[in-house]
Amino acid sequence: MRTSKRSSLIHLIYFSRAQLSAEPRERARQVADIARHAQKKNEFSVITSLLIVDQGYFIQILEGERMSVQETFQRISGDIRHRDVHIVEWREIAKREFVTSFAYVLRTPANDALFQKANLAPMLQRGTPKASTIHALAQALQADTMAKQGIDHLFV
Ligand SMILES: Cc1cc2nc3c(=O)[nH]c(=O)nc-3n(C[C@H](O)[C@H](O)[C@H](O)COP(=O)(O)O)c2cc1C
Repeated sequence: MRTSKRSSLIHLIYFSRAQLSAEPRERARQVADIARHAQKKNEFSVITSLLIVDQGYFIQILEGERMSVQETFQRISGDIRHRDVHIVEWREIAKREFVTSFAYVLRTPANDALFQKANLAPMLQRGTPKASTIHALAQALQADTMAKQGIDHLFV
């Protein structure tokens, strides 16, 4: 008989419309503000996550114990800094794939090729982004960020 102690580990992927400043520097400051708070909260709840900010959309993957993810998502979905929050996928996972409690990636010229390859924007506009596309982009962005910090050996 197979038993799993980790059966309550899940990931939740959602996307939403960001309600942020149109001015890039102010927008970056607002996202940094979200991150400061979320980092501490997620550490406490043993949640790992990645937030992508692309062309007016937030896309986030949250991983952790089922109850912690639910509680955190409830808070996030009531936040006035975004609207039209839609869950894309919510399912059990065998292991975590994101390494920090809260990392975020803004689309910049330096990582634009990864966004172009994923071509998520048309799916977001139609309201039907695919979980697998988001997941692949998030992993590529995490690997890219880590490689720039010189810790790509974790991913070989
Ligand atoms: C796009 C977005 C992502 C967020 N991600 C998280 C998160 O991963 N964890 C978290 O605790 N709060 C996150 N927040 C912040 C929550 O919505 C909320 O402001 C905060 O958790 C409330 O904390 P408080 O009850 O201590 O004031 C996020 C907010 C936004 C707009």
